Amino acid sequence: MTNDDGILPATRVTQAFGIRYPILAGGMMWLSDPAFVAAMGRAGGLGFLTARSFAHAQAFAEGVSLARRLAGDAPIGVNFTLSRHSDNQGTGAMLELALAQGITAFETAGTLPPQALIDRIHEAGGILLHKCAALRHARAAQAAGVDMVGLVGMEEGGHPGPGELPTSLLGALAARELDIPLVVGGGIGCGEQIVAALALGADAVVMGTRFLACDEIWAHPAYKAALVAADENATVRVFGSLGRTWRVLRNRTAEQVADLEAAGERDYAAYSALVSGTLTRQACYTEGDVQQGLLSCGPAVGFIDRGESLAQTVQTLVHEARRALARVR
Ligand SMILES: Cc1cc2nc3c(=O)[nH]c(=O)nc-3n(C[C@H](O)[C@H](O)[C@H](O)COP(=O)(O)O)c2cc1C
Repeated sequence: MTNDDGILPATRVTQAFGIRYPILAGGMMWLSDPAFVAAMGRAGGLGFLTARSFAHAQAFAEGVSLARRLAGDAPIGVNFTLSRHSDNQGTGAMLELALAQGITAFETAGTLPPQALIDRIHEAGGILLHKCAALRHARAAQAAGVDMVGLVGMEEGGHPGPGELPTSLLGALAARELDIPLVVGGGIGCGEQIVAALALGADAVVMGTRFLACDEIWAHPAYKAALVAADENATVRVFGSLGRTWRVLRNRTAEQVADLEAAGERDYAAYSALVSGTLTRQACYTEGDVQQGLLSCGPAVGFIDRGESLAQTVQTLVHEARRALARVR
């Protein structure tokens, strides 16, 4: 696929991934499923299937296969979110399963992947985008040989790291310094911001929150209605005091976590019943109780004003980008 409508420029990222628009949908735990990722590719961007959302390797392999079938000719990617707190067992096997099905686009996050994983992706002809939240981590990723760096600011929905720096500043600094293609993200919800990101030197944006109410997201209508109703002040960062900053929708669980933190609780195990991922999946995404579970979400939620298809949202972004470009010409 080429950037044939010429509204947004071709960049090193669109060329490497063979996509029309410099718009990536980062992996989203439980939600970046085959239907979502395929729709993102068909809309002209690139989505990343979250390997960790699958219960076991066989289910992951079936997910990749379904995503490829639904995507048709469009590309799909795979996200490996690595934990600093575990040995990430199983990642190597899932990588092999993805490579065997012809996947070449990978996103890693959480911590710098082991050298063996980077080397294996390259040996198989793949492209690795490593997403991180600090300039020093971006430098380390470039030095380790990843192909692209994703840099997210404190606005990011999900895990923006402990820093206080916004996406626009981090992106501008990174663009001056890094040689490899740069993707910026966190708080991006409209086309004007995409143009701004490209203007400051990024090759693409990575987005998540803005897509959460799209038709292809399988979650409960009550959750999507809450996102439509939410404004830019509806999110909060929790777990900073435990070194695990997490930006989420402000709900009862987020308030309980904040209260426990304020009371001095620093043992993550004390929170595990409240914040387990399966609770989020079951109580909120499946049953529609938005007060339960930690719901990754950033202030770009303020841009969501309706439920619509992913293709419509991407076209809105492109339209806004065109308008923004006309404004500064
Ligand atoms: C619901 C949700 C779940 C996410 N889960 C993951 C994840 O499992 N792995 C990951 O690398 N990033 C995850 N992210 C971060 C996104 O990939 C992306 O970097 C982020 O959404 C960009 O910031 P934005 O939400 O402000 O657009 C998640 C984000 C959201 C909103």
